[in-house]
Amino acid sequence: MSEPKKLFIKTYGCQMNVYDSERMAEALGGQGYVETKSPDDADMILLNTCHIREKAAEKVYSELGRFKGLKAEKPDLKIGVAGCVAQAEGQEIMRRQPLVDLVVGPQSYHRLPEMEAKTRAGEKALDTDFPEEDKFEKLKNRPKAKRGPTAFLTVQEGCDKFCAFCVVPYTRGAEVSRPADRIIREAQDLVERGVREITLLGQNVNAYHGAGPNGDMTLAGLIWELNKVDGLERIRFTTSHPNDMTDDLIEAHGTCDKLMPYLHLPVQSGSDHILKRMNRSHTAESYLRLIERIRAARPDILMSGDFIVGFPEESDADFQATLDLVDEVQYGYAYSFKYSTRPGTPAAERPQVDPQVADERLQRLQALITRDQRKIQDSMVGRNVHVLFEKPGRQQGQMVGKSEYLHAVHVADADVAVGALREVRITSSGANSLAGELV
Ligand code: 5AD
Ligand code: SF4
Repeated sequence: MSEPKKLFIKTYGCQMNVYDSERMAEALGGQGYVETKSPDDADMILLNTCHIREKAAEKVYSELGRFKGLKAEKPDLKIGVAGCVAQAEGQEIMRRQPLVDLVVGPQSYHRLPEMEAKTRAGEKALDTDFPEEDKFEKLKNRPKAKRGPTAFLTVQEGCDKFCAFCVVPYTRGAEVSRPADRIIREAQDLVERGVREITLLGQNVNAYHGAGPNGDMTLAGLIWELNKVDGLERIRFTTSHPNDMTDDLIEAHGTCDKLMPYLHLPVQSGSDHILKRMNRSHTAESYLRLIERIRAARPDILMSGDFIVGFPEESDADFQATLDLVDEVQYGYAYSFKYSTRPGTPAAERPQVDPQVADERLQRLQALITRDQRKIQDSMVGRNVHVLFEKPGRQQGQMVGKSEYLHAVHVADADVAVGALREVRITSSGANSLAGELV
């Protein structure tokens, strides 16, 4: 038998890319590849790129440049670019960086085996189509390897919202939902392999409307179906848009026992003027009322959000409105970003806020968020939570896992099994995690 070929995948960006990288590794497994942790001994290098952050494409070009030496030493080495930068740049990547053999957009991963074969024949392979077929069905033949206790499962891709700052509708395409039965089969398969918590992924996950047995299903309908899967203990989902928080989904947070009390619901700004310019089609007030309803259904829910500061036209008063909203919501987690232009998006053409002003706003917002985050984490001390243990902690004799609220929790007990779900009394709150004792 010939030696297996080695595949090195570097994954950037969101959880959906992590999921996609796993699927690509499995697809190329069928071509005789095993994964390696270093590019140095690889026969194929794949960069699974993200286009969300600033100068994403430039960073990919410079990363590719670093493989020049490797390729010179090993002319058979194949180099591929996948993900959203691949989708956005397409052919341009091969033109600017001739050492690239393969460019594949997120909707074409099921074609990777053929594309790989093409590169072995000395040709270049490019595919950035948005084909009709379900790539995940084609990528289905996962080896039945044992898995850790948590997994991602993509249920929806793409976005039709066109927020004025965002590239996702261009790189991931229009909103598409996978049929419910396929998702449920995939969840059952994950559970058989040791998974106890599944995070449903989608760029706009709560707009899910996949085919079910009696017509289209909502995300809440899908969650209720997953709630019946024996051995699956926890369900989460991300990322949601406020306008797609349907009544049945809000209600599920109060009634569905496996759905965890954590919700990532980006608002981006607290100013109605800016929200309008962002094309968000909700107001600060409607967002706050929505959170009130969610908290009425599930009072202990931990809220998380995303913010952009320094969006074109953002005044001091607009920014103050964002601070006020943060103060009112009290986020347990929140991610904040300085606006940066994405070529091709509407906001890119508008006059930009002074970068120094934006920097200063970002710092102020982050300080406020950190304060609330800290306060909420500290308030867990003395409470009992349920922890799904994932791995040994950094210190000897420790095990660490996540509470239902997604806080990292460690216990000084090396005998707890990975995958155990145990009640823990929280005894202290550290910089980024909680510590507790098994009850
Ligand atoms: N500039 C800054 N932040 C952005 N995000 C998306 N596009 C941009 C941009 N052009 C942020 C949003 C989104 C998160 C994933 O990234 O807050 O919710
Ligand atoms: Fe981008 Fe999310 Fe807006 Fe869609 S809803 S355009 S993914 S920020």
